[in-house]
Amino acid sequence: MHINTTSTTLFIFFTTCTLLHLSVVSAAKCNPDDEAGLLGFKSGITSDPSGMLKSWVRGTDCCNWAGINCLFDNKRVTSLSLSGQSDKPNSFLSGTISSSISKLQFLDGLYLQNLQNISGTFPTSLFKLPNLQFIYIENNDLAGPIPEIIGNMKNLDVLSLIGNRFTGTIPSSISKLTKLTQLKLGNNSLTGVIPQGIQSLKNLTYLSLAGNQLGGKIPDFFSSLTNLRTLELSRNKFFGKIPPSISTLAPKLAYLQLGHNSLSGNIPDFLGKFRALDTLDLSSNQFTGTVPTSFKNLTKIFNLDLSNNFLVDPFPELNVKGIESLDLSNNKFHLKVIPKWVTSSPIIFSLKLANCGIKIKLDDWKPAETYFYDYIDLSGNEISGSAVELVNKTQYLVGFWASGNKLRFDLESLRIGQRLKYLDVSRNSVFGKVPKSVVGLEKLNVSYNHLCGEIPKTKFPATAFVGNDCLCGAPLQPCKA
Ligand SMILES: *[C@@H]1O[C@H](CO)[C@@H](O)[C@H](O)[C@H]1NC(C)=O
Ligand SMILES: *[C@@H]1O[C@H](CO)[C@@H](O)[C@H](O)[C@H]1NC(C)=O
Ligand SMILES: *[C@@H]1O[C@H](CO)[C@@H](O)[C@H](O)[C@H]1NC(C)=O
Ligand SMILES: *[C@@H]1O[C@H](CO)[C@@H](O)[C@H](O)[C@H]1NC(C)=O
Ligand SMILES: *[C@@H]1O[C@H](CO)[C@@H](O)[C@H](O)[C@H]1NC(C)=O
Ligand SMILES: *[C@@H]1O[C@H](CO)[C@@H](O)[C@H](O)[C@H]1NC(C)=O
Repeated sequence: MHINTTSTTLFIFFTTCTLLHLSVVSAAKCNPDDEAGLLGFKSGITSDPSGMLKSWVRGTDCCNWAGINCLFDNKRVTSLSLSGQSDKPNSFLSGTISSSISKLQFLDGLYLQNLQNISGTFPTSLFKLPNLQFIYIENNDLAGPIPEIIGNMKNLDVLSLIGNRFTGTIPSSISKLTKLTQLKLGNNSLTGVIPQGIQSLKNLTYLSLAGNQLGGKIPDFFSSLTNLRTLELSRNKFFGKIPPSISTLAPKLAYLQLGHNSLSGNIPDFLGKFRALDTLDLSSNQFTGTVPTSFKNLTKIFNLDLSNNFLVDPFPELNVKGIESLDLSNNKFHLKVIPKWVTSSPIIFSLKLANCGIKIKLDDWKPAETYFYDYIDLSGNEISGSAVELVNKTQYLVGFWASGNKLRFDLESLRIGQRLKYLDVSRNSVFGKVPKSVVGLEKLNVSYNHLCGEIPKTKFPATAFVGNDCLCGAPLQPCKA
């Protein structure tokens, strides 16, 4: 015991000496320009509640500061990388990006991700950094236009400005950034059209312009962008048809997201040739006609969202081994049953088939797997029988929506699991009492059924309970004594 303590003390003593020695030696090596550049950056930060920059102290080796990487041979700073964590409330930085960042002449990567509150305009001091290849300024609060001289940063490999408040058009000079492999400008407020010049970016593998206010037609220039694996154009104002040249992306494209636009016409046959396609989102557009039979060949599709269009029967039988997430809601389908390739999926977690013309008895539906289910939406069908067996089996269910069916079961028999947050069985023939266990839900709707008895104390509004046989108590009329 004694000997151990002594040797530990000695060990700590020697380690401390060695560390002190090391830091003195390396402090001498920290390049003065880099130190000045980084301390200048730090002085532009007005609030750092989680202490992300607390190791950034003058006179210590800046290569050892949090978020800093240096070249091994000359110890020049090559990357600055700070990132906030969404699960920690104080994990953000306020302030602006100081122009002194231009002193970091060896910087090749700037990663300022999820810091939430870094504001100001696009930092033009970055144009003075000849080696800069990677810019990730994501989920911050930068605003104003993306400057036209962005085209001068010819070495850029990745430009990601996702999740800021940039406005104006995408500069046409972007066509000069021919080394770009990733261009991510999603979740900003960009306007105008997609510049034709993007077709010069032949090495692009990732193009995301989703979540802006871009409009016009989607340009028909994809035959020069055949390296694309991800194309995200969702949540904009694009109209017209899916351009034919998208067919040239078939060998490699894995993600195609065009949802929440005003696209129209038929879903093209050629989409069935996209053998690598994992995610296809065409939701909330104005697509008409049938889903092409070529979709049988989409054997790798995991996530398919065709909801909120005007698509009609017949829906092809897919050959997928396992779908993870499917949404066909609110089209003009009359599926009659839940498709076999859905029922047999061993990995499905989200199934949304609202208003799909399904006419089954729910007790007869025996999904191969219920373990992964998070969401089931079967609203607006003609489904009869009881939801009890299904809901009881899906122990991790978060949301169950089945309003407007012919379900008939005792609400008190339904297992309201720990994870369940949303339950809507309104407009059915549900009977019995409202159980106390609904209190923990975030949203509940049991209106227009045959429930009776006193409502337990909950936060839900009257519209969640109206239209039943004899429910009483707040928020409805008091029960008779
Ligand atoms: C974000 O930054 C602005 C301006 O710099 C400041 O007024 C605001 O208090 C900051 N927000 C938080 C949560 O610190
Ligand atoms: C595009 O990628 C290829 C293959 O990786 C590479 O040889 C070429 O130099 C790149 N083009 C540009 C402009 O960087
Ligand atoms: C963009 O915003 C949407 C909606 O808020 C969000 O679901 C998505 O994850 C965001 N995308 C990125 C890449 O941050
Ligand atoms: C599926 O792919 C095979 C092989 O490429 C092709 O012969 C067949 O016509 C395709 N099926 C449909 C329905 O397009
Ligand atoms: C469903 O779960 C509830 C509550 O846990 C239980 O009372 C009921 O007997 C179960 N019913 C079925 C059919 O599993
Ligand atoms: C409950 O559902 C009914 C009919 O489906 C609807 O009119 C009402 O607004 C809903 N109320 C709540 C709180 O969701």
